[in-house]
Amino acid sequence: LSQSIEEQVRKSGIIAVTTIEDAKNAVPTAQALVRGGVTSIELTLRTPAALDAIRAIRAEVPEVLLGAGTILTPKQVDDAMEAGVAFGVAPGLNPKVIEYADKVGLPFAPGVMTPSDIECALDHGCKTMKLFPAESIGGMKTLSTMAAPYKHLGLGFIPLGGLNEGNMASYLSSPLIAAIGGSWLAKPDKIAAQDWDAIEAAARSAVSI
Ligand code: 3PG
Repeated sequence: LSQSIEEQVRKSGIIAVTTIEDAKNAVPTAQALVRGGVTSIELTLRTPAALDAIRAIRAEVPEVLLGAGTILTPKQVDDAMEAGVAFGVAPGLNPKVIEYADKVGLPFAPGVMTPSDIECALDHGCKTMKLFPAESIGGMKTLSTMAAPYKHLGLGFIPLGGLNEGNMASYLSSPLIAAIGGSWLAKPDKIAAQDWDAIEAAARSAVSI
């Protein structure tokens, strides 16, 4: 990530991972998150509606720090940039995607889950990394051990994958953590049911923690 985006991500603290099946649900989902106090969104490029959803949020909820998730190819870097995202992330580390994002200027955080991934990310100039799947690999305990050799490098991690209201606090006090997030804030079934109050409440509750 660029320094400015890293600072904005850190300031926001929580990233709502959001998958939109129907573009008309994008704006009300983003508005519900913002009402609840969550102002960063990772919108996943996993559905045909994703790019329209990004464009709609950009146009109508500009206060959101909007990123694209699940960027698996250089073409998706272009698509995400054209749609207007501020940053991109992926579950894994694909050198082709990192290099292309760097070339075209998209602040990008690759996914890591091993020391080798961290070193490959570092080799590509990335200091902010998505830790995925954070809970399955042992959460903060694993991250503390794994990141210890790199402490002097000032890395920032965004744990995603399996986080929820019950375990998010375990990450929050560590200086290794740039932000946390997950899909529990805007669950696909709540989006499909247009239950904006539930999304707002989940966001508010997470912010209060
Ligand atoms: C993702 O890209 O889907 C996430 O990292 C979110 O994981 P979660 O659904 O377990 O929150």
